[in-house]
Amino acid sequence: MSKVLVTGGTGFIGSHTVVELHNAGHEAIIVDDLSNSDISMLERLREIIGIEPKFYQKDLRDQESIKEIFKENDIEAVIHFAASKAVGESVEKPLLYYRNNLLSTINLLELMIDHKVKSFIFSSSCTVYGEPDQLPVTEDSPVKPANSPYGNTKQIGEEVIRETVEVNEGLQAISLRYFNPVGAHESAKIGEFPSGTPNNLMPYLLKVVAGELEELSVFGDDYDTPDGSCIRDYIHVVDVARAHVVALDRLLQSNQKDRYEVFNLGTGTGYSVLDLIKTFERSTGLRVRYKVVDRRPGDVVKIYADTSYANQELGWKTEFTLEDMLTSAWAWQQELSKE
Ligand code: UFG
Repeated sequence: MSKVLVTGGTGFIGSHTVVELHNAGHEAIIVDDLSNSDISMLERLREIIGIEPKFYQKDLRDQESIKEIFKENDIEAVIHFAASKAVGESVEKPLLYYRNNLLSTINLLELMIDHKVKSFIFSSSCTVYGEPDQLPVTEDSPVKPANSPYGNTKQIGEEVIRETVEVNEGLQAISLRYFNPVGAHESAKIGEFPSGTPNNLMPYLLKVVAGELEELSVFGDDYDTPDGSCIRDYIHVVDVARAHVVALDRLLQSNQKDRYEVFNLGTGTGYSVLDLIKTFERSTGLRVRYKVVDRRPGDVVKIYADTSYANQELGWKTEFTLEDMLTSAWAWQQELSKE
């Protein structure tokens, strides 16, 4: 059993990863500032795993205050989810994004070096590929200039880690480039808690079906795709969470090819916005009220992952279908609506 510091562990992907870490016999210690999550997550986690994870409410920008976590616990690895993640907001508040996302990464890496903590896993994003020239995208596909400060923090974050690992023999790291994580744990006790009106497709769709929002806007049906709407690689959040456990084991067992590695986390299949709506309707028997509106500025037209590197090297593959993602997300939304 290893003690793993999970930053952002009360968030969407973080909380699912805490469950999978526990299932694999590891102990997760959570640090989160609760800026985009709720303290009730700890109780929800307890209901699933039977124990409440150790929790620190701290701001990762304040290195002094997180030092104590490293002093008090014999941490073996850090999984760093905590970040601001709204693309639109990042355009309006670039400094907030650079400060939050970069300073937290730098502070953690410095503390890891000081406390001889070797293993680091970083939440990156397919956003680093921009609009790809070739599909599916492999880890070697070119990284394109970011089209938002948020995207830029992911690119710079990867660089900061790569360069730091290069000159610190005691460090090793894996960046996981997530495609579009959706869905929820089968218990429907944890899931995505978007604050305010959601920006992303899945939480917006769920609130429309739950009657909390009027109608879903489909941003464009005149793209160069089979049905005209944009294509993404949606992946079940539990598959994403499990990939972290596998990546962690690779680091702990020092099975890496290089001390810094990057993996795509997707299913390898692209679905359009309209495919997703149809699959939701078919698998739940419910209707999604939607209208087609103008394109959303900055949207990538089509992206999906080549997952062969993660499949071969990590021995990881996705287990859940799009239908599983949508029905589990709907079960979670129903729980949320009850509250
Ligand atoms: N969409 C709609 N209506 C909505 C919301 C989204 O039609 O109300 C469409 C978008 O146009 C896009 C697809 O649904 O085609 C997915 O949009 P999301 O906002 O759910 O996700 P994105 O692919 O835009 O964003 C994701 C991550 C970001 C990351 C970005 C990189 O959420 O963190 O990929 O492109 F930066």
